[in-house]
Amino acid sequence: MFLISGPDLVIAACKAGVIGAFPTLNARPVAVLEAWLQRITSELAEAEQASPGKIAPWAANLIVHKNNRRFDPDFELILRYQPEIVITSLGSPARVADQIHGYGGLVFADVNSVEFARKAAERGADGLILICQGAGGHTGFSPAQEFVPQVREFFPGPIIVGGAISTGADIRAVIDCGADFAYMGTRFIATDECQAQDAYKQMVVDASAADIVLTPYFTGVPAHFLLPSIRAAGIDPAVLEATKGQLGFAADGEDDGKDLSAWRDIWSAGKGVDRIHEVLPAAELIQRLRDEYRA
Ligand SMILES: Cc1cc2nc3c(=O)[nH]c(=O)nc-3n(C[C@H](O)[C@H](O)[C@H](O)COP(=O)(O)O)c2cc1C
Repeated sequence: MFLISGPDLVIAACKAGVIGAFPTLNARPVAVLEAWLQRITSELAEAEQASPGKIAPWAANLIVHKNNRRFDPDFELILRYQPEIVITSLGSPARVADQIHGYGGLVFADVNSVEFARKAAERGADGLILICQGAGGHTGFSPAQEFVPQVREFFPGPIIVGGAISTGADIRAVIDCGADFAYMGTRFIATDECQAQDAYKQMVVDASAADIVLTPYFTGVPAHFLLPSIRAAGIDPAVLEATKGQLGFAADGEDDGKDLSAWRDIWSAGKGVDRIHEVLPAAELIQRLRDEYRA
């Protein structure tokens, strides 16, 4: 999750047996990314020695959109630190697939329509992350029970489903739709290890799905945001209909206004907030998800 998932959350998730991921752009400037990658790889290698076979792989999320001015240095570091999985978002995996396959890594492409899923499969994706309705950030619009079977018709690889998954029962539901993995963002905002400020975590705990608004106003692409954070920033929700933002990603030392502050001051979350009632340590949350899934 942009700005709020970092090494603490990735390491805690992987140690608890769940793949932890973070967008490379969260480490600012690029020298910080190298420090994060060093820390993640060394702490997980140590944990693997202590508990062989119990540590999940980690993943880096690389924005492959042409507006990402950090693409080149970030990709170079990915090739050096070799995450088992690279998640590509906002563009084609073709730009990175060969080099990632070259070191034995897998490319999972984030898509929100059958058309993009087909293109990503043709362009080297090993796994497809289907963003379904209700997701935090740039959401999708289909229900999993519709999207998964449509993609399964032409894609034999792993299918990962994201969107409003907050409990073990929610995970079970997408597995029953034919998914191989569940992909969760919003639920992990309300963890001790997430880098979001405490007031953001509390807003996720307090919010209901009715507090989540869909708008292209801040980023140019429809995304879900917490209405109380929009009001707290002094923005009249009525203007959200009127104008559209620009998709852009501020690089090191830059704050090109709307787009970075959109995520820093206007907080995103998905409709799964309804089933989030407390902030927990990630390991405790993951154990709870397992118990709920089994139940
Ligand atoms: C605050 C926030 C920031 C996000 N930033 C990104 C991002 O930078 N790149 C990305 O691929 N997805 C991003 N997402 C989407 C998540 O990767 C994931 O698809 C989504 O959180 C899943 O739905 P859920 O939030 O309902 O669990 C973000 C989601 C949230 C809530």
